[in-house]
Amino acid sequence: MKKVYLETFGCQMNVSDSERVATTLAKKGFEMTSREDQADVVLINTCSVREKAEQKLYTRVGRIRNSGRSKPVIGVLGCVAQLEGETLFEKIEGIDLVLGTKAVGRVSEVIQRVLDGEEGIVDLGEREKDYDWTVSDPQRHSPHVAFVPIIEGCNKFCTYCIVPFSRGREVSLSASEIVRSVLDMRRTGIREVHLIGQNVNSYRPTTDSGLEGFKGDTPFSRLLRAVAATGIERIKFNTSFPRDFKPDIVDAINEHENLCNWVHLPVQSGSDRVLNMMKRGHTIDSYKRKIDYLRSSPRDISITTDIIVGFPGETREDFEDTVSLVEYAGYDAAYIFKYSPRPGTPAYEMADDVLSEEKTERFLKLESVQRRSQNERLKRYVGKTLDVLVEKHAVRSDAQVSGHSTCHKVVNFEGSDSLVGSIVKVKISEVKSNSLLGVRLERQASLLA
Ligand code: 5AD
Ligand code: SF4
Repeated sequence: MKKVYLETFGCQMNVSDSERVATTLAKKGFEMTSREDQADVVLINTCSVREKAEQKLYTRVGRIRNSGRSKPVIGVLGCVAQLEGETLFEKIEGIDLVLGTKAVGRVSEVIQRVLDGEEGIVDLGEREKDYDWTVSDPQRHSPHVAFVPIIEGCNKFCTYCIVPFSRGREVSLSASEIVRSVLDMRRTGIREVHLIGQNVNSYRPTTDSGLEGFKGDTPFSRLLRAVAATGIERIKFNTSFPRDFKPDIVDAINEHENLCNWVHLPVQSGSDRVLNMMKRGHTIDSYKRKIDYLRSSPRDISITTDIIVGFPGETREDFEDTVSLVEYAGYDAAYIFKYSPRPGTPAYEMADDVLSEEKTERFLKLESVQRRSQNERLKRYVGKTLDVLVEKHAVRSDAQVSGHSTCHKVVNFEGSDSLVGSIVKVKISEVKSNSLLGVRLERQASLLA
């Protein structure tokens, strides 16, 4: 049996694609291994969103080639594969196959062709519409949490972003299929599903099938209610696109306990001038109104974001507007990136005129503002009890386990590995830089008894 090692970079869509790849391969008689040095086939699922992410592919292949052992079959999957196609064979020595984001469903056939001696295989073809997870042993990144793609691709063409080119146009999956797979997952012990897509709230299926009878102004909020009705314990969704983020989403969260109280709403910049150049289609004012509506929810919804510093033409004043926005929004977490020019995007044609040192300075300043603001915000959890889905042994302490709350904070607490997979009540005692520390309530109660 041929052994396959699969490494994944990038966003949840890539993680989800890798799950499909692993499931398909296992079904077709390959063995998935966590030991790269023992693998007959090494697959790298790539990300191209920033230059640094793309660079990882080149470093990884180089390291495999120089490892001294006989060279395995090396396959490049994902966004870099889709964008570069066969030019990758010229750029990287030693690779055997290139499989785009649209072709992951054919991974086993393509590997077999290489094993049979065919050279230089490139497949960037059509994606299969729905993926059937109802196989006996689906390979997931977690036995308790599942990613469910609901919309693939992106039509937004933000000027800095490569994703519309690497993942193609938006295609929404059918609501009845989504609901059916969530019901299957629930039956097989999945406790939390993440509805994923580049812009989940732009969800627009071609038919109403599966959404009948569910209220809401947008198909996405109706889908949320339909998935909530499956009775699965926790539902999270990301990423949300500000322009399409409507109040009916918050209303659905308010009315369904199993819709988790977390929204990832990337703002990218706090300056209207920069947002305009990014072609984001929203203003700071409209974004703030969405934040205000989220804050008015009795569910204490945690809000997280993405921000780019140093976009072409971003002035000191524009940057200061971003600082003010961060202070206004009070994010539970923010992912801050230095602008990275991506060939083929409209922004690539603009002068990358914020000096590298200036980008770093803005990055560090924003990070420190966010850290301070985040620390203040997170204090509201101290003394509160959060429901935590225990996922694994904690990284930093032998005596602790780690999981996520409904508001998607990492929570660590003292407990044994036997708790993995259960949802427990944890009283928060301390705020750490990117996590919360607490004490399990049941345990406290039994100590008192
Ligand atoms: N440079 C820097 N950051 C980028 N992102 C997307 N494209 C770029 C780029 N060219 C960031 C955005 C997006 C996140 C996934 O990555 O903030 O929300
Ligand atoms: Fe990229 Fe904008 Fe689409 Fe997000 S919405 S994937 S940032 S183009």
